[in-house]
Amino acid sequence: MNRRKFAIGGGLLTAAVARRGLSQMAHMPPLQPAPPVLDPEHLASFVDPLPVPAVAKPEGHRGGVPYYKLPIREFFSKIHRDVPPTRFWGYANSMPGPTVEVRSGHPVQIEWPNQLPAKHFLPIDYNLMGAEKGRPESRTVVHLHGGRVPPASDGWPEDWYAPGHSATYRYPNHQDAALLWYHDHAMGINRLNICAGMAGLYVIRDSFEDGLNLPKGDYEIPLVLMDRMIRRDGQIYYPVTQFPDAPWNPEYFGNLVLVNGKLLPYLEVQPRRYRFRMLNASNGRFFFLELDNGAPFRQIGTDQGLLSVPAAVNRLALAPGERADFVLDFAEHRGERIVLRDITSTIMQFRVAQERVPDPSALPQTLRPVAKIAEASAVRTRRLSLEEVDNLRGEPTIHLLDGKRWQAPVSEKPVLGTTEIWEFLNLTEDAHPIHLHLVRFQILDRRVFNVSAFIYENRNVVYRGDAVPPDPYEAGWKDTVRATPRASTRIIVNFEGYTGRYVWHCHILEHEDNEMMRPYEIVARAE
Ligand code: C2O
Ligand code: CU
Ligand code: CU
Repeated sequence: MNRRKFAIGGGLLTAAVARRGLSQMAHMPPLQPAPPVLDPEHLASFVDPLPVPAVAKPEGHRGGVPYYKLPIREFFSKIHRDVPPTRFWGYANSMPGPTVEVRSGHPVQIEWPNQLPAKHFLPIDYNLMGAEKGRPESRTVVHLHGGRVPPASDGWPEDWYAPGHSATYRYPNHQDAALLWYHDHAMGINRLNICAGMAGLYVIRDSFEDGLNLPKGDYEIPLVLMDRMIRRDGQIYYPVTQFPDAPWNPEYFGNLVLVNGKLLPYLEVQPRRYRFRMLNASNGRFFFLELDNGAPFRQIGTDQGLLSVPAAVNRLALAPGERADFVLDFAEHRGERIVLRDITSTIMQFRVAQERVPDPSALPQTLRPVAKIAEASAVRTRRLSLEEVDNLRGEPTIHLLDGKRWQAPVSEKPVLGTTEIWEFLNLTEDAHPIHLHLVRFQILDRRVFNVSAFIYENRNVVYRGDAVPPDPYEAGWKDTVRATPRASTRIIVNFEGYTGRYVWHCHILEHEDNEMMRPYEIVARAE
């Protein structure tokens, strides 16, 4: 095994083991050998400053509402000083796209024109549902992840449109301050479009949060993490199987991590508090982040906004689709260099200035009250299995939610204004980050159960251990939850907002694109 292969293999192995354990490694279908890709060990570290995505500017107003236009295009961008420009498909010529900044209760409209070239540059698998031959390859539709949005503006996966077409969506922003993100959601090629660069941030602010005096302006910095495999010529590599007619593989792991579109960047900071708004926009990678000086993150928020109290976290876990809001105080680290790293990779460096500075910001002891939804208020519990279907070689072919494919009739129809418990029964060896559109929810607990009893004894749930409540850093409002392997994960959801069709799915994009997504419908009254 040469060094390059070892480096990649090693990275892949540990990332995967972190999620599913060594025994499962035989599960991957044979991949085509990768072309020469960049090796992080041969890349100069910390030579590029961390870029911060520009804030989107409205074009004007329509019907009294700010109107934005973010065209989806191909462009090239430098991801590292020593790497030739990389081709991306993304929003308004930047990757991540421009950040949309809004106030709670103040609606905006965004037009998303598709101006992509006709041919996709990543490998489409025509066997996947919705990705059959004959469709325009560079189709797209945009979803605002975490947004409480009417169904017509939510980005229904089959409502994609081809180059030359456009869609204008309305975002009411009737929700608490939170970090959301917009990204592609086109049926069957979503994993390729997001891998190509179709993702950007959307920040909702409100006066409650303003009143906390958290670090802001230059001291509030977004960090969008995405892992990639990059060829030596600077282009994104998306691995395929050895079967040319069936290139889909069940997971994408990169050996490099882009932060706001740069590899191994550095950030010059002053010795004071900073607020970081982090998103894991990777296809399938779970991050377990730490600082090399051992200092904890002070996590203040999760997917849907602030926690009730800050949580000290030594290792910050972030699944695809999840967000973490945290504060780092560099006051005691003047002149130091601190590295942010994952189990497998170096991610970025903070360079703390020497000179003392005043810090008018605060990290309050209490943040935003999170009223616990009472279990007794739930009108029903839905038990929903998460399953992997393997072929004779033991390789996953599809993943299913409650044993059903996308096209099966809608089976989850909560009534508007009611509360339900959804219990995800994960029969697999993988953790699956499960996301529901439209709503926010709370995690009740996780509990190991007997998977074979479930499978062979008529879906009988026999718990094996105690119910474990969420860690303090997860005990806020969420829209994506890690359903851990061979365990039940229960969430409690108020179905508020709108009636209509939405989706719920695994946020491992390779799973989502291959049947691990289902419609659900919020109805006005029980059917
Ligand atoms: Cu992040 Cu269905 O989306
Ligand atoms: Cu979403
Ligand atoms: Cu999954």
